[in-house]
Order: sequence, then C-alpha cells, then structure tokens
Amino acid sequence: MGCAISGSGVTPRSPENRNSEDISPARLTPDHIRLIKESWRVIQEDIAKVGIIMFVRLFETHPECKDVFFLFRDVKDLESLHTSRELRAHGLRVMSFIEKSVARLDQLEQLETLARELGKSHFRYNAPPKYYGYVGAEFICAVRPVLKDRWTSELEQAWQTLFQYVTAIMKDSYLEEERSHTLSSSRERPDTRSTAV
Ligand code: HEM
Repeated sequence: MGCAISGSGVTPRSPENRNSEDISPARLTPDHIRLIKESWRVIQEDIAKVGIIMFVRLFETHPECKDVFFLFRDVKDLESLHTSRELRAHGLRVMSFIEKSVARLDQLEQLETLARELGKSHFRYNAPPKYYGYVGAEFICAVRPVLKDRWTSELEQAWQTLFQYVTAIMKDSYLEEERSHTLSSSRERPDTRSTAV
C-alpha cells in the first residue's frame, strides 16, 4: 500500500505547512491543464475502482478521516470496504466532482464556484480543512498504477496543483461559512436572553 509522492517542485501547501492567511489558489498552467485532461481519459475508465482505492487508502493512512463519516466510522475491517456499495457510491460522487473539475479547467471561475459549494457542504458535514490535503495524495497513489508508464513527474505535479487549487478554495469557503455561523449565533444570543427576561 506504500506510495511515495515524488518531489514536485511545487511549493508544498499541505494544511500543516500552509499559512492560515494563505488562501490563494495554486496556479494551473496550460501544460498542467493539457496533462490532466489527457490522463483523465484513461483514469475515467477505472473511475469506480480509483474512488474505492483512494478512500480505503485515506482511511488506512489517516483513520481520523474515517471518523468524520457516519457511514464508515464503525467499520473495523478496512479490507471489507473494497466491496462496500456505500463506499463505491461515495467514491463515485467524489470522482464525479473531479470529472466536473477537469471539464471546467478552461473556465476557472466555474471551477471556483463548484469548489466553493463543496467547501460549504463540508462545513455542514463537519469535515475540516486540515484533512483536505490528504485526498490529493491518495488520489495520486490510486491513479498511478492505472496510468502505468504514462505516469511522469510532470503529470504528478499537474494533479497536485489541481488538488491544491480546489482544496484552497474549499478551505476558504469552509472558513467563510464557519465565520458566518459564528456571527449569526453570537447575534442570536442577546436576543434569546432579552426574551427570556
Ligand atoms: C479534495 C478533497 C475532497 C473532495 C474533492 C471531496 C468531495 C466530496 C463530494 C463530491 C462529496 C459528495 C457530496 C457533495 O457534493 O457535497 C463529499 C461528501 C462528503 N465528504 Fe468530501 N471531499 C473531500 C475531502 C473530504 C475529507 C478529507 C473528508 C473527511 C475528513 C470528507 C468528508 C465528507 C463527508 C462526511 C461527506 C458526506 C458523506 C455522506 O454523504 O454521508 N471529504 N465530498
């Protein structure tokens, strides 16, 4: 299950080493976009398998992520997840998001809208940004064997950049949602007190 992500030359922006003020998305170049689109055609053929492998790996390497999922938090035998209908369905939802992201690479403002919605929904799921960086790494490990000798360090860098781009926006939108909830609950408190008196 080991899979070392090679050095990419991209500034590391995992949640741990990202400055809390640093929310600017990574820069996707025309070369990144071309490489991602070409490889997606191959990945697409194994979309369900990649989705499952990605999540089983995520839960193996970061069990704290599994605890966020109501459906999977009590699963002890991770091997059994390889044949789980629920994990297959969840993996397909996430892969379908990646497919939509690939389709929007030429309209980044549309990709941004999509990623902002996802950040908001992850606030509702109670899935905090500190975990988002793990998903791209597991995606890369899951697709590498599918692409076999088509895999290159440039391609790895391109996918890393796409995940950094999407997760930076998700994080920003998650935090915005969190702030607006904190604000509205602090506004509600004095009202509640005044009616109670
Ligand atoms: C690159 C990072 C991620 C992407 C692209 C992603 C994508 C998605 C998508 C497309 C869905 C389907 C529902 C929706 O569209 O709102 C979803 C649901 C969900 N995600 Fe994520 N996700 C990411 C990271 C994470 C992480 C790290 C966790 C947990 C630590 C997480 C927890 C959840 C949960 C709990 C749900 C709801 C599951 C349910 O339907 O019961 N996500 N995610």
